[in-house]
Amino acid sequence: MSFTVAVSGKGGTGKTTLAGMIIRYLLDKKKGPILAVDADSNSNLNEVLGVELRSTIGEAREMMKQDVPAGMTKDVWFEYKVQEALSENRGFDLIAMGRPEGPGCYCAANTLARKCLDLLTGNYPYIVIDNEAGMEHFSRLTTRDVDLLFIVSDSSRRSILTASRIRDLIHQLDLRIVREILIINRAPEQGGALPADVLKEVEQQKLQLGGILPEDEAIYRYDLEGKPTFQLPMDSKAVQASRQIFEKYIQ
Ligand SMILES: Nc1ncnc2c1ncn2[C@@H]1O[C@H](COP(=O)(O)OP(=O)(O)O)[C@@H](O)[C@H]1O
Ligand SMILES: [Mg+2]
Repeated sequence: MSFTVAVSGKGGTGKTTLAGMIIRYLLDKKKGPILAVDADSNSNLNEVLGVELRSTIGEAREMMKQDVPAGMTKDVWFEYKVQEALSENRGFDLIAMGRPEGPGCYCAANTLARKCLDLLTGNYPYIVIDNEAGMEHFSRLTTRDVDLLFIVSDSSRRSILTASRIRDLIHQLDLRIVREILIINRAPEQGGALPADVLKEVEQQKLQLGGILPEDEAIYRYDLEGKPTFQLPMDSKAVQASRQIFEKYIQ
């Protein structure tokens, strides 16, 4: 059985950055091999990880609508395409979902994509999934349980409300989530504490706060220089704070 960690939250809150930090943490703990799943249609987890992406599952599915090479069944060909989309790296592999299917798409292709992803995930003790705000796209592609869901928010009261709304939407999907943890990212440093009103909102929304990541100048600098934040030094403030959270929740 693999342990599945998913990251969700509003756009721009730091989901992909956090997914990269989780993968880095697992690698450092020698907990590979890891399957990284980019379930955001605007795939960019590969940039955070600093690896190449040749194609996506969405593209493979599109190709299914065209002619399958002679002498191959649709299933075999699709599996071959999924393997081709898998980016293999040291300690982790990355697969990106790409764009969700448009109108006129066939359920058969969806079912097959689901089968392939389920097949793939079986090979890894850890799966880390970077999502769009909610997890609709991912839920359509798999029925697997999520052991740990991180919901990322910034430190404003409104963003906490948004996080709780996203949590409610995810609950309506056909996914079983074992544990849900709120992470507040990009917190301005004021002795590490959040304003009382924000904490009150967290409580009122029945969110479990796992920890706070500070605004980190090193992340900004890496971004600016086009360097993958996956390679941030261990002593970066946000990386250190993230590790304390992961120690608590990821076995
Ligand atoms: N703790 C942080 N400190 C500074 N910048 C951050 C921090 N976390 C994320 N960022 C930056 O914020 C932007 C959005 O982050 P990203 O992970 O792409 O968000 P999302 O995947 O939720 O859209 C990126 O430019 C990223 O480098
Ligand atoms: Mg992202």
